[in-house]
Amino acid sequence: MNSSLTVRTPAKINPILEVLGKRPDGYHELALVFQAVGLYDDIHFTPAESGVHLSVDGFALAADDSNLVVKAAKLFLKEILREDRGIQVKLQKRIPLAAGMGGGSSDAAAALRGMDWFFETRCPEAALQSLAERLGSDVPFFLKGGTALGTGRGEKISSLSPDPEMDLVLVKPKDGLSTPAVYQSGKALMTSGDRARGFTPAAAADRAQSLFNGLEPAALSLMPEVGRIKQGLLDAGAFGAMVSGSGPTVFGIAPSPQGALEIAKWMEGNGRMVWVTKTVSTGIERI
Ligand code: C5P
Repeated sequence: MNSSLTVRTPAKINPILEVLGKRPDGYHELALVFQAVGLYDDIHFTPAESGVHLSVDGFALAADDSNLVVKAAKLFLKEILREDRGIQVKLQKRIPLAAGMGGGSSDAAAALRGMDWFFETRCPEAALQSLAERLGSDVPFFLKGGTALGTGRGEKISSLSPDPEMDLVLVKPKDGLSTPAVYQSGKALMTSGDRARGFTPAAAADRAQSLFNGLEPAALSLMPEVGRIKQGLLDAGAFGAMVSGSGPTVFGIAPSPQGALEIAKWMEGNGRMVWVTKTVSTGIERI
């Protein structure tokens, strides 16, 4: 066992998200492309006598049993470690909540991976994947990172060859959106999944032409500010812009690092949060 360990874990966007239909279990069948981006939460692990003890810095987030990090850590202790040991977890939260950027899922995956490293359990990948699936549809992606295709409810992951690195501007409206509310709005666009399954690497200007999100009409109808942000990004010079996941964050593909900074400046105001970042080919890493 280590005396302490810190990992960082990225946010994601979805260049393509297709909703195929509603499933009998209440979830939606998806075909989507996940892309990791360079905005990170950090998770720091130290030993504890027993139980899971979480503290959160940065964005305010309950540190109780409703927190996905606590759920993931408890699941790991119970299913993998199977010993009466505990863990102290410190979460530095920089990925915004209820944003469509996968922050909670990323933290859950990092808790699983981080504890496997911390306790040196060398847990088989399939076992970690199966715990990840139980924690949420987006969690398995974050065990892999980079660029990946998700199918099923998003939990069946296969790695994809990435696009060349792209400059991005992420803009989140003042308020968040609830993922179930977006899925249940009845406004999702159903498509075949061919766009996601046919994903091949493309340069920024071409990628911008193929962005697609079947949940975008739902996010737009629930929060009109999303439409203003999307138009603003295009007016400011983005090659293309799209809602990420269930929103309400909108990402714009910028023509250059300098272009991204200029677009970001243009987008400020209205209580929005704005980030300049890039696509990354990595996932959870020790720091
Ligand atoms: O899997 P996860 O807990 O992250 O999903 C949160 C909610 O998002 C689900 O309860 C469901 O309302 C919706 N969802 C869905 N179809 C998916 C993924 C999520 O309807 N494929």
